[in-house]
Amino acid sequence: MPHPVDSKTAYQDYHHTPRVTQDAHGEWHVHGYQEAKQLLQEDLRQAGFNADAVLAAGLSPVLYQHGEKHREQRKHLAKFFNPTTVSKKHTATMERMADEILADFKAKKRVDLNEMTVRMALNVMCVIVGLKPSEGLLARFNNMLHAPPEPKTAFGKWWLTNVEGNLRRFRFLWFDVLPAIRARKKNPQEDVITYMLDSKQTTMEIWAECLVYGAAGIATTQEFISAAFWHIRQRPELQEILRNGDEDARMKMLHEILRLEPVIGKIYRKSTAPITITSEGETLTIPENSLIHFYVYDGNADEQATGACPYHLKTDREVGRGVSRSLLSFGAGPHRCAGEFVALYESDIFLRKLFALPLHVESGPDVARNPHVEGYEFRNYWLVLDE
Ligand code: HEM
Repeated sequence: MPHPVDSKTAYQDYHHTPRVTQDAHGEWHVHGYQEAKQLLQEDLRQAGFNADAVLAAGLSPVLYQHGEKHREQRKHLAKFFNPTTVSKKHTATMERMADEILADFKAKKRVDLNEMTVRMALNVMCVIVGLKPSEGLLARFNNMLHAPPEPKTAFGKWWLTNVEGNLRRFRFLWFDVLPAIRARKKNPQEDVITYMLDSKQTTMEIWAECLVYGAAGIATTQEFISAAFWHIRQRPELQEILRNGDEDARMKMLHEILRLEPVIGKIYRKSTAPITITSEGETLTIPENSLIHFYVYDGNADEQATGACPYHLKTDREVGRGVSRSLLSFGAGPHRCAGEFVALYESDIFLRKLFALPLHVESGPDVARNPHVEGYEFRNYWLVLDE
C-alpha cells in the first residue's frame, strides 16, 4: 500500500509477503530485515553471482569463500577499505579523477551521465585493486558487465554462452591483469594485487579476484551515483545538504537514497548445516543445503527496522543501534560489502562537483532492470552544460 508521503523512486521491486516463507521446492524466501540480518551472519555458502560455475572452475575469490579462509582474506583486505584509509589516502585521487571527467564534460557540453559514472567507478576500483585504467579496460568491463541483446539463433546463444564470455574474460586477463601483475612484481604498492602476490596466490586466483572487484565495484557504484543524482535533482533540500551539509549529513543522505534504491536487489545463500532463526516469536529451522533468497528491497522497507514511512526518503531517519542506515544495500554479515566507504566517498565527491556545474537534463533517464543483480540500470540520461 503506498503511503501518502512515499517518495517516488526510480526503480521499485517491493513485495508485500510474510517475513519468511518456504516454497514448494523447499527454497526459503526472506523478506524481513531482522531475519535477513540474522541469517546472513551465519557461515552460509554464496549461491548468487554464478557461484556454481565459479566454484566448478576451481576458483574461489573473496565473494565465494566461506569460513576461516574468508575471514583471513577479509582481515588482510580490511586495511585497503577502512574509512581512514579511504579518506586519508584515496580522496585526493578521487577529487582529481572527478575533475578530469567533468573537464571532459565541459569540453563536450553534452554527455550521458552513465558514461561519466562508469569512468569514475572504474578509475577508483583500479586504484584500490592495482589495475591500470584505460579506454580498453573500460570497454572490456562494459562488455563483461552489461549483457548484449539476446541472440536470435541457437548458434548465437551457444556462441555467446560458450565462447564470447570466455573470450572477454581472457582479453581482460591478457591486456589488464598480466601487465598489472608484472608491474606490481617490479614495484609493489598498497593494493589488492600486491597483497595477493605477497600471499603467493596464482595468476588465475588474482585474475578471478580482479573480476570480482570489477563486477562488485564498478556497475554498482556507477548505477548508484546515477540514482542519487536523479533523487537530488528533484529535491532542493537534498541539493542543500550536498552543497552545505557536513560529511555526516551527506553520508546519511547517500545511505538513505541507497536504502530506497539498492543496486543489488537480491542476495542468495545455501545453508551448510541446519540453522534456526526466530521470526515474530516463532522458531524456524532451515535444513542443511537449502537455497535462501534474500529480498533486499523488502528488507530495506521493513517498518520494524526503518520506523514510520519506510518508502519515504528521510535523510534524518533514526534507525536502531547496529542497523546500517542503508539497511541491506551493502549486504550483511561476513560478506558485507568491502567497498562501502570507497563507494560512498567517491559518490559524494563526484556528485558535489557535478552539482556545482550549471547544467540541465536534456532527456532521460531510461531505467531498466539488470538481471545479473536483480536491480536497476540508468541509461540515456543526457546532461547539457549551460553557457
Ligand atoms: C554503491 C555501491 C556498492 C553497492 C550497492 C555494493 C553492494 C554489495 C553487496 C550487497 C555485497 C554483498 C553480496 C553478498 O552478500 O552476496 C557486496 C560485496 C562486495 N563488494 Fe560491494 N557494493 C558497492 C561498491 C563496491 C566497491 C566500490 C567495491 C570495491 C572497490 C566493492 C567491493 C565488494 C567486494 C570485494 C565484495 C565481496 C565481499 C565478500 O564477499 O567478503 N563494492 N557489495
